[in-house]
Amino acid sequence: MKITSAEFIKSIADTGQMPRDSFPQIAFAGRSNVGKSSLMNSLLNRKKLVQVSSTPGKTRLINFFLINNSFYFVDLPGYGYAKVSKQMYKSWQKLLENYLQQSKKLTGIVVLIDLRHLITEADLQLIDWLEHNKLPVIIVGTKSDKLSKSKIIHHKKQNEFQLKKYNCCKIIPYSSVTGAGKSELWSDLMLLLDKKKT
Ligand code: GTP
Ligand code: MG
Repeated sequence: MKITSAEFIKSIADTGQMPRDSFPQIAFAGRSNVGKSSLMNSLLNRKKLVQVSSTPGKTRLINFFLINNSFYFVDLPGYGYAKVSKQMYKSWQKLLENYLQQSKKLTGIVVLIDLRHLITEADLQLIDWLEHNKLPVIIVGTKSDKLSKSKIIHHKKQNEFQLKKYNCCKIIPYSSVTGAGKSELWSDLMLLLDKKKT
């Protein structure tokens, strides 16, 4: 995928502020600190377009980036981070749920899991909900550079086993450090975007 432009459009704290144009949206969801912002920068060959957190739980708003003047990447707030006040956490959860329910332009969701660990209950709940609502899901296993080749294969298989009842039962191992997995993920994203055009 040739990236000719990637611009930050807006951050929203309320779904009433979502972009009103008809460009398809691809959203990135996953636990706090799993590597959502890094993955987006890596896919777009940009170093700092999307803010990478030094402290987990930094992405509290929904951020929209317009790519090639034709589709959006949407950075969603991370879930499952305990060290914030309950009230704050609830308000992000609500924002996330509202977006997933209300966005008519949502074409697919990339759900990120940390390939070093077993998929969590919160991830499975999200995937369950997305599939129930007939939203296409792509699952990416992040931080693969922190694992040996054999561990990557093992953890991928182990997590795919947990996903066997879902359509999205394939995991794409990815490293935002080395770019491993980039072409495979782009080809799945292109399929989603092409589907939307027809
Ligand atoms: P929130 O916005 O807080 O939910 O986090 P996030 O999911 O956007 O994660 P982010 O991209 O900010 O990355 C969190 C930390 O993990 C940062 O220190 C990144 O440098 C690191 N990280 C992300 N992806 C990778 C990766 O593929 N490999 C390695 N080694 N580190 C990564
Ligand atoms: Mg982030």
